[in-house]
Amino acid sequence: MSSVRTTSIRLPPECEPALLERFLKAEAMALRTVRSAQLQGVPPNVYAFLRKHEEDEQQHLAQFETMIGRQPRLRERLPSVPRQWPALAVQIYGYESLGLEFARLLVALRPDLSSILEDEVVHVRFFEHEVRRILMGADEAAEQARVSAHAWWRKLPRTVARYLDAAVFDPLRHLLTEKVLGAVEQQFIMTGLLAKQGERRA
Ligand SMILES: [Fe+2]
Ligand SMILES: [Fe+2]
Repeated sequence: MSSVRTTSIRLPPECEPALLERFLKAEAMALRTVRSAQLQGVPPNVYAFLRKHEEDEQQHLAQFETMIGRQPRLRERLPSVPRQWPALAVQIYGYESLGLEFARLLVALRPDLSSILEDEVVHVRFFEHEVRRILMGADEAAEQARVSAHAWWRKLPRTVARYLDAAVFDPLRHLLTEKVLGAVEQQFIMTGLLAKQGERRA
């Protein structure tokens, strides 16, 4: 399964502080998204998973807060997430897949943080399974998932650019962007959310 594949890019050690900063923000966002998702009408098995997922992200965030020595700046309101389960599943699956790619980069620099990577693999696998289930189910839900995935995918380059906006990433930015986008694209194609390039709708 491609979600356990390892990336071949190794960041130089001077990237570590900027990467930790990205994780502080991203883990906080993941935690708040998972909290927000629990307030939507999700299937019971998903709700049960989200409770454990929330604990994992809380723990990841606490680790980064300890390493960096401060808390992330956040708005008080929880982020708004799609109300419809197929769209919500795609969004969480997408962001967790993105987080997993960054976790691979992190662990290459900080092998002591490998438990975070292991948790992210579990998160991606769960939502991958749920997305496959949606795609095999009712036509309307499957179509909603595909449309959401397409829209999310189109916004992804901007998200990745934001993650990599520190000057320390300059020499590797192009390669990193290609790798991360390519990995998430492969995930989406493999699950059936996204058509292969050339067969895609505009
Ligand atoms: Fe996390
Ligand atoms: Fe996660």
